[in-house]
Amino acid sequence: MAHAQLPVLERPRKLTMRQDAWWVQPAVVATLLTAFLVYATWAAFQNAHYTYGPYLSPFYSPELFGSSSHAWFGPKPGWWPALLPFSPALLILPFPGLFRVTCYYYRGAYYKAMWADPPSCTVKEPRDIYRGEQTFPLIMQNIHRYFLYVALLFLLFLARDVWDALWFTDPATGHASFGIGVGTLVLALNVVLLSSYTFGCHSLRHIVGGYLDQLARRPVRRTAYACASCFNRWHMRWAWLSLFCVAFADIYIRLCSMGVWHDVRIL
Ligand code: FES
Repeated sequence: MAHAQLPVLERPRKLTMRQDAWWVQPAVVATLLTAFLVYATWAAFQNAHYTYGPYLSPFYSPELFGSSSHAWFGPKPGWWPALLPFSPALLILPFPGLFRVTCYYYRGAYYKAMWADPPSCTVKEPRDIYRGEQTFPLIMQNIHRYFLYVALLFLLFLARDVWDALWFTDPATGHASFGIGVGTLVLALNVVLLSSYTFGCHSLRHIVGGYLDQLARRPVRRTAYACASCFNRWHMRWAWLSLFCVAFADIYIRLCSMGVWHDVRIL
């Protein structure tokens, strides 16, 4: 029996039929992420102006080794290779950095903005192969949930920094007394925004109860799941607000330390 010849469909040549300015959002995302990456890398290599009074920049917290009074284990260790530049930030920044890089929201954002994969909804990729996250290296994105555990630990360190930022030492007497400065508020806001971002993590929702068929019989997990879902609804906004705030906290402490800005004591 002769088969009817099926028509061969032409691949659409245009990237998209969309008429709106679909490229604006990926362009803005690419610009902001690049600006943050450049600034954070520059700040991490400075190894200077990361403390001011009781304040410690979140880019350098926890300070494991370093020259400030916040350092847990004293100055730069003797085993540090002489050829490598040293900065306390280089020891810890990869952990929160990889938490963000592997975040489900940021993945969607930078796949579109940086790799055009695809650039936007109903806009074609400028390539024909799509391998998804099934193969190396993108399969590594699945380690996100392990970075979540580290990120939760970092929230404790940053909360401890806010506590430290409440105690101002009098240079004349050496006594520490309670106080609140603008820097204290900036560091506190940073913890609030980072917590809101972290508690809305998709992996956290899964860990606390998303894997269960029935949550109704597990009241604690049901409440935790509801809380995580509540934060998750704004995950994108928390992601950006916390990114801006952590950069601003570093800038604030840096400029105060350089004498460009003056920290105002509120209490
Ligand atoms: Fe965004 Fe986990 S999915 S922090």
